[in-house]
Amino acid sequence: MIIEGKKVVVTGAAGFIGSHLVDKLLEMKCEVVGIDNLSSGKEEFLRSAKRKKRFKFIKYDLLEDEGLEEYMDGASIVFHLAANPDVRIGESNSSVHLEQNVIATYVVLEAMRAMGVPTMVFTSTSTVYGEADKVPTPENYGPLVPISLYGGSKLAAEAMISSYAHTFDMRAVLYRFANVVGPRSTHGVIHDFVEKLKKNPDELEILGAEPGTRKSYVHIEDTIEGIIHGTHVAQERVEIYNIGSEDLIDVKTIADIVSEEMGLKPKYRWTGGVDGGRGWKGDVKLMHLDIQKLMSRGWKPKMRSADAVKATVRSIIGKK
Ligand SMILES: NC(=O)c1ccc[n+]([C@@H]2O[C@H](COP(=O)([O-])OP(=O)(O)OC[C@H]3O[C@@H](n4cnc5c(N)ncnc54)[C@H](O)[C@@H]3O)[C@@H](O)[C@H]2O)c1
Repeated sequence: MIIEGKKVVVTGAAGFIGSHLVDKLLEMKCEVVGIDNLSSGKEEFLRSAKRKKRFKFIKYDLLEDEGLEEYMDGASIVFHLAANPDVRIGESNSSVHLEQNVIATYVVLEAMRAMGVPTMVFTSTSTVYGEADKVPTPENYGPLVPISLYGGSKLAAEAMISSYAHTFDMRAVLYRFANVVGPRSTHGVIHDFVEKLKKNPDELEILGAEPGTRKSYVHIEDTIEGIIHGTHVAQERVEIYNIGSEDLIDVKTIADIVSEEMGLKPKYRWTGGVDGGRGWKGDVKLMHLDIQKLMSRGWKPKMRSADAVKATVRSIIGKK
C-alpha cells in the first residue's frame, strides 16, 4: 500500500505514538490531518509538525464533537490511534475503555464509510492475547482471551474493524504492540519509576512481587518503522502484525536500569501485588510477541528491550 504523498488522517495525533507518526508521515510528503482532544496528548509534541503547510491540527473529541466526515474528505488512510491506553484504569472505571476504545473506533469507521476512505491502520495491543500458552506469541495464536478491560476493548475494536473491512470493501492493518517506549511517552513503568525516584531517591516502591512481570519493550523509532513498513507490504484485506523487540526483561531489571541512569542506589520495596505477583488486576505476567511475520517481510527492530528502556530513561531525565 502506498503512503507517500497521500492525504491521511491521524487520530490521537498529539499523543506519544501519534505525534511521532505524524512527523514520519510529513517526512513522507503526506498531507496530514491530526485529530486529538488533548486529553492525554500535548500540542507541544506537534511543534515541528505545525511548522509544515501540509499539516493541519484539529482539536476534536471523537465522542463529543460532530463533523468528523469533513476531515476525512479525500483521505486514503486513517491511522486510528486515539484511545485510552491506561490498562490499570479498567479496574476502577469499567466504562472508559468501552467508550474511548470501542465506541470511538465505531465513530471513526462510520465517518470513513460515509466518505469512502478505503483503509484503516489501527494500533492494537499484546494484551488481546491475554495469558497466552505459547510465548513468544504469534499473530495466529488463539483463542484470544484478554484479562483486562483494555485488552477486551481493543479485541472488540479489532473485530469491528475486520467486519467493516469485509462488509464495506475496506482494508485494515492491525498492529499489536508490545510496550512501546521512548521520548514523549507519558505513562508506564519507566515514568512511574523516574517520578517516584525524583520524590524519594532512597526507596523505590515497585508494584508486584520480585522480580516482577516479564515483558517485551520496543522503542518508538522501531515501532514507527514497523508501522510504515508493515503498511507498505500488507497483503490481506485485514493484515495483522505483532510489533515488539526480540527479547523481554523483568521489572527488576527496569528498576536497575532507571536507578543506574539516575545515579541512584535505592532500596526496592515490592508491594507483593495481586493474584500471585501481578502489578494490578489484569496485568499480564509474561508477554513476548513473536515478530517473525513482519521481520520476514523486511523489518527488524534495532533495539532490544534493555536498550529501549535505557534510551527512554535518558530522554526523560534529559541525559545524553
Ligand atoms: N504505548 C504503548 O505501549 C502502547 C501499546 C499498545 C498499544 N498502544 C496503542 O497505541 C495508541 C497510542 O497510544 P499512546 O501510548 O501514544 O497513548 P497516548 O495517550 O499518548 O495517545 C492517545 C491519544 O489519543 C487522544 N484521545 C483519547 N481519546 C480521544 C478522543 N475521544 N477523541 C480524540 N482524541 C482522543 C489523547 O489525547 C492522546 O493524544 C493507542 O491506541 C494505544 O492503545 C500503545
